[in-house]
Amino acid sequence: MKLSRCHNIATMRRLARRRLPRPVFDYLEGGAEDEISLERNTAAFDEYELLPTCLRDIAEIDLGTEVLGCRLRWPVILSPTGMSRLFHHQAETAVARAAAGAGALYSLSTVATTRLEDVAAASTGPKMYQIYIFKDRGLTAEFVQRCRDAAYDALCLTVDTPIAGNRERDRVSGMTIPPRFTFKSLFSFAVHPRWWLNVLRHGGFELANVAHRVEPLARKTVSVIEYVNAQFDRRIGWRDAEWLAREWDGPLVIKGLLTAADARLAADSGASAVMVSNHGGRQLDGVPAPVDCIAPIADAVGDRLEIICDGGIRRGSHVIKALALGARACSIGRPYLYGLAAGGEAGVLRALEILRQEMENAMALLGCRRSADLGAGHLRARG
Ligand code: FNR
Repeated sequence: MKLSRCHNIATMRRLARRRLPRPVFDYLEGGAEDEISLERNTAAFDEYELLPTCLRDIAEIDLGTEVLGCRLRWPVILSPTGMSRLFHHQAETAVARAAAGAGALYSLSTVATTRLEDVAAASTGPKMYQIYIFKDRGLTAEFVQRCRDAAYDALCLTVDTPIAGNRERDRVSGMTIPPRFTFKSLFSFAVHPRWWLNVLRHGGFELANVAHRVEPLARKTVSVIEYVNAQFDRRIGWRDAEWLAREWDGPLVIKGLLTAADARLAADSGASAVMVSNHGGRQLDGVPAPVDCIAPIADAVGDRLEIICDGGIRRGSHVIKALALGARACSIGRPYLYGLAAGGEAGVLRALEILRQEMENAMALLGCRRSADLGAGHLRARG
């Protein structure tokens, strides 16, 4: 199957699945425990119905918006995802370039396989860096300075990972630290020689942004991941978010909250936006779908913060529903990773093009010209 034959995100997913060894695909795809939140994240969109308005002039559809001080051609952000090189050797720079080409905002993960300076040099598009507050505050402060020097537009503090989620697919396949592959996993790697060849040709999976912190002699991927894991601080609180907001003194998103109470604390801490998210169902299973949390959070803090809906988006109409409920923009993870796995930069571009075309089409059929005009009148809860 070719990229041009992918007409929706579901077929892009199938192509990605074919191209990746099974343990790698499962790492991309999987959620925590019974994957109930993972499944709900997308299914919840079906609980809202769009209400079209007829005989409206829809000659020019304008999806443009401003998020975190960045002008975007459409209200979509590419969520931070670690270890992109696992999925394609072009890795994070390809994703950042495709995002810039598509007029979307790219977020680079702390556990990326490309240095933040290299991503900044490769793409002139709007960029955000996803940061953690580490035990070693010096490391967090160092990232803040590096992001400032590399002209990142915003910071995104992930708050739903005080510890790692319980992802059983990775335990079954052996995608753990250190790896413990089963015979079945090894067989799956063996029958994907193209994936292997690319690893051999283009290098391994170093966590490029933190590798310099680990003793040069121990600088194997496993040691760097262990270093990062050891840096997670179970004691951090909202005061630390306030500290980060002061240190950075620019647009700051708090990513990974789901309640109005936490959104209020985010506003009080000095954040400019919240990313309503359950980490794509990869952390605590059994939490609500982000789209179901948008309206209460918008009621509580919509006048103080920009609200971003992250998780489960697989169709352009999903973006429309989230915006109608009160979100300023949506953020997507797996959809662009399917594109990356399926075809590198061209694959990411194709995935973004599919979503954008779907969104434009649905806006026209809804009779709504500007994404900024979407509101409660455009949808209702089913039943
Ligand atoms: C993630 N996510 C994530 N989030 C984050 O803050 N830092 C990270 O390093 C990662 N890494 C990561 C890797 C992979 C493979 C996935 C799939 C996800 C979560 C991500 O930012 C986002 O919240 C979800 O992907 C959104 O859900 P969808 O769009 O994938 O359904």
